[in-house]
Amino acid sequence: MANRRPKISIVGAGFVGSTCAHWAASKELGDVVLIDINGDAAKGKALDLFEASPVEGFDSNVLGGSDYELTKDSDVVVITAGLPRKPGMSRDDLLATNSKIVKECAQNVAKYSPNCVLIIVSNPLDAMCHVAMSATGFPRERVIGMAGVLDSARFRSFVAMECNVSVEDVQGFTLGGHGDTMVPMPRYCSVGGIPLTQLISKERIDSIVDRARKGGAEIVELLKTGSAYYAPAASAIQMVEAIVRDKKRILPCAVYLKGEYGVNDLFCGVLAKLGANGLEAVPLLEMNAEEKDMFGKSAAAVKGLVEDMKRLGLN
Ligand code: LAC
Repeated sequence: MANRRPKISIVGAGFVGSTCAHWAASKELGDVVLIDINGDAAKGKALDLFEASPVEGFDSNVLGGSDYELTKDSDVVVITAGLPRKPGMSRDDLLATNSKIVKECAQNVAKYSPNCVLIIVSNPLDAMCHVAMSATGFPRERVIGMAGVLDSARFRSFVAMECNVSVEDVQGFTLGGHGDTMVPMPRYCSVGGIPLTQLISKERIDSIVDRARKGGAEIVELLKTGSAYYAPAASAIQMVEAIVRDKKRILPCAVYLKGEYGVNDLFCGVLAKLGANGLEAVPLLEMNAEEKDMFGKSAAAVKGLVEDMKRLGLN
């Protein structure tokens, strides 16, 4: 990484994008650029955030606008642009609109930062990763989707509520696509090191799994005019932090699979090692027959969307 502060650009200055900027700047992960088709809104949010820095005491230059030249030589770029869901919609309903938006954003990003690591947040997530990869021609190491950290955070939150323990002591993750078929992995969840399966009943675990699967929709139903943003943004920035600080974290992310878990040429959520080079490894875990079956179904659902995009000429 260059001998300067890391540069983090965020495309889309809506709730998710501006909250990403907030976390990134307040954690002093680097200088932050916020891009939006509404350049003044991006500029205003960036300036407002910078004006919070003397109070909160963080050193991070924050700039905003609509011109991608501002993003030149970014180390990491987070794409959040696109429409959010409305109540009753599934993430997949956003396919046509958001694929056009993500394609254009990704092309602009690659023009100014050909070596950056791209983190995709726009929905339907796994399909949008495919769009970004073909729009940029980046290798799989540098196109990574944010979904697993968020879905896992929801799962971990519900486990902490159920067990009445600190969220910090709950480890766990979900795999598969970022949709109704996602695969929470309670067998690998632990509370202070104790397997969850030893702590609560199967019925309670099933209900937590179900709530995690529908966690995004639960927020959409409550907000009515948009979708979640605090947890999605915090999750994207945890991935950014792993990369700019070369932390080698193992986080569940959407990764372009090349044979791992028997899946080829498809983005799907798996455990991934993130460091300065972006995706640095895909450590494999053992799945039992039931988990394999759920993971296979989830990958098939993602594949269906990717094929829809091809059929509709969207990618
Ligand atoms: C959610 C959206 C961001 O899960 O997909 O809240």
